[in-house]
Amino acid sequence: MKLTIIGTGYVGLVTGACFAEVGHQVVCVDNDAAKVKVLQAGGIPIYEPGLEELVKKNVAAGRLSFTSSTAEGVAKSDVIFIAVPTPPQPDGSVDMSFIEKVAREIASAMTAYKIVVDKSTVPVKTGDQVAETIKRYNKAKVEFDVVSNPEFLREGFAVEDLMKPDRVVIGVRSQRPVAAMKEIYEPFNAPIIVTDINSAELIKHASNSFLALKISYINAVSVLCEAAGANVQEVAAGMGMDARIGRRFLNASLGFGGSCFPKDLSAFVKIAEQVGYDFRLLKEVQSINVEQMNRFVKKITEILWVLKDKNIGVLGLAFKQNTDDVRQSPAIELCQRLQKEGARLRVHDPKAMEKARTVLSGVTYVDDMNAVADGCDALVIATEWDEFKQLDLERARRALSHPIMFDGRNLFDAAEMEKAGWIYKSIGR
Ligand code: UGA
Repeated sequence: MKLTIIGTGYVGLVTGACFAEVGHQVVCVDNDAAKVKVLQAGGIPIYEPGLEELVKKNVAAGRLSFTSSTAEGVAKSDVIFIAVPTPPQPDGSVDMSFIEKVAREIASAMTAYKIVVDKSTVPVKTGDQVAETIKRYNKAKVEFDVVSNPEFLREGFAVEDLMKPDRVVIGVRSQRPVAAMKEIYEPFNAPIIVTDINSAELIKHASNSFLALKISYINAVSVLCEAAGANVQEVAAGMGMDARIGRRFLNASLGFGGSCFPKDLSAFVKIAEQVGYDFRLLKEVQSINVEQMNRFVKKITEILWVLKDKNIGVLGLAFKQNTDDVRQSPAIELCQRLQKEGARLRVHDPKAMEKARTVLSGVTYVDDMNAVADGCDALVIATEWDEFKQLDLERARRALSHPIMFDGRNLFDAAEMEKAGWIYKSIGR
């Protein structure tokens, strides 16, 4: 099928590449001409495992192309996906200006029936607004349908998640676009749920909020584990074996971050408020997340006492492993908190150092993870990168003034670390 994706961020670019991979003819549109130039020249502006190969392969096969012209994108396809940002505003509500602008642009360019599909995470009832906007700004008065098709991919696993989705949600106002939507997703062999637009939009916010709730829940349990001398990983393993609960998203940590969970929680609380419901449960999820970071900083100060002029090595800057994304990263927040206390930092991340430099200054960026500990008073693990498990602990022990590690991601075995002479503080163990 001929498909256009507007917005080449994490969602849009990966969606475009995966649609092309299964044989669709895809045009990706972005209003950032410089970004389009990079993409046209074979460059990938984000780090996402497997994406570069996929883009190169499909561009070479003539199934994937890039343009900065929305009109061109609209003209070339029958189905237009919107995948532009929906950033948070200071009061927690969502900034819908990008979606609204794209809806107007699509409307002005439409000369024949189009299916306009929203993939961005949006507040419930956005579909109605998009439909109304297109109706108003389409002078030719051509027919169209609006569809909600939320995306559930995780950064760092985006290609994998898109190629093998757990489910595909299609929200519609009429049956007319259903066959085309099913045809687009047919090659992915995933269960498809067809529902009304409002429910589809709610599924996305409700899912992300529930996952965040799961993390805050295990983080709250981790506090109990520490107080009672239990091990949160054992508790999570035992809980997770109940199929109704599941083991995933039960990793206690210094808190969740990223461009989705914090934003979507605030938005969902706000949406609830607008329809007259006080979503106290989700407010608690947010507070637990703030407390978890406070508790971690306190752990560090309890052992190191005064942080002023201390040298601390920090492993991890991305908001989680397998990504270069530092938006709302707990690791960056932690670094800033330690800096505020007067600590000097040596930091490393396998992929996120370039992006971190734009938000974190006054630290020493170290290329080799094993050299981070050099001349430091303690090491901190802030992101759950698998490669950190391969850290040369013996070298780190010698390089530190005293072997002290604060592990915000429970990457090492606590008993073994203590046996090896470390003062080792982790989460919920
Ligand atoms: C999240 C959802 O998982 C995706 O399904 C959704 O499509 C996406 O938001 C979105 O709305 O676009 P993402 O933000 O990429 O995906 O990252 P996650 O893997 O969900 O991790 C979020 C944060 O939670 C990270 O900081 C991570 O380290 C933390 N986390 C995750 C934990 O602390 N413990 C866990 O057990 C799992």
